[in-house]
Amino acid sequence: MDIGILHTHTLTVVLYVALFAVKALLILTGQRNLLTTFNGKTRILHIFLATALLGTGGYLLSRAPEGTSAYNIVKIVFLVLTMGVAFVAVKRFKASFAVLALSGFVYIFLLAKTRDIFLRNEETRLKATLQSFETVSPRPDVALARGKTIYEAACNRCHGADGRAGYRKAFDLQTSRLSDAAVLSTIAAGRKTMPAYSYLSKQELDDLLAYVKSLRK
Ligand code: HEC
Repeated sequence: MDIGILHTHTLTVVLYVALFAVKALLILTGQRNLLTTFNGKTRILHIFLATALLGTGGYLLSRAPEGTSAYNIVKIVFLVLTMGVAFVAVKRFKASFAVLALSGFVYIFLLAKTRDIFLRNEETRLKATLQSFETVSPRPDVALARGKTIYEAACNRCHGADGRAGYRKAFDLQTSRLSDAAVLSTIAAGRKTMPAYSYLSKQELDDLLAYVKSLRK
């Protein structure tokens, strides 16, 4: 269900932005009459896409373990603002607003890709967070803390803090009884919708393994 909704969400976002891009192009090239005609003909489509986009987005937020993370809140606030700017651009035939709205949509798109307000990729972000651990000796509690940090940055969004969220068909990590080797290879190579974390070092993988196993009941 989550995955179908996610695809529908992505599709409606692409169509919605494409529709606005056509309107922005008409504004930027000064074709006011054409815009009025195009707007009239696509009104129902516009309402349908906006409703589908917000509806599917709302559903995904309610399902995602990190639905209320800072990144998601920035994304929603930005989206609502940008949709407002886009509305004004079309209503008032304003080129500056059209450019602003297009830039806003591009930012939100990159935000959704990276899940970071500064648009850093996951590896860069995670490695920056892990720097504080670098100098510490690998005591078991330190290893577990590092594993937890990695888990929260990379795994939480599907498996949830307790390992049971099951978002996007993620397996329950509390009942999982995979061997150490299989857990390590699942993390390093990914599986179905789970991405590969090939950038994690051997030490980081071992610490993550220890943390994942600590979630088991
Ligand atoms: C995009 C969502 C997503 C993210 C992020 C994610 N997983 Fe998964 N995970 C899944 C899915 C889906 C499966 C089940 C794959 C399948 O159907 O074979 C899974 C399966 C697993 C399994 C196998 C469990 C078993 O019993 O077979 C382990 C272990 C695991 N994930 C650990 C992690 C760890 C550790 C991270 C972070 C580094 C992580 N996952 C990040 C979605 C995710």
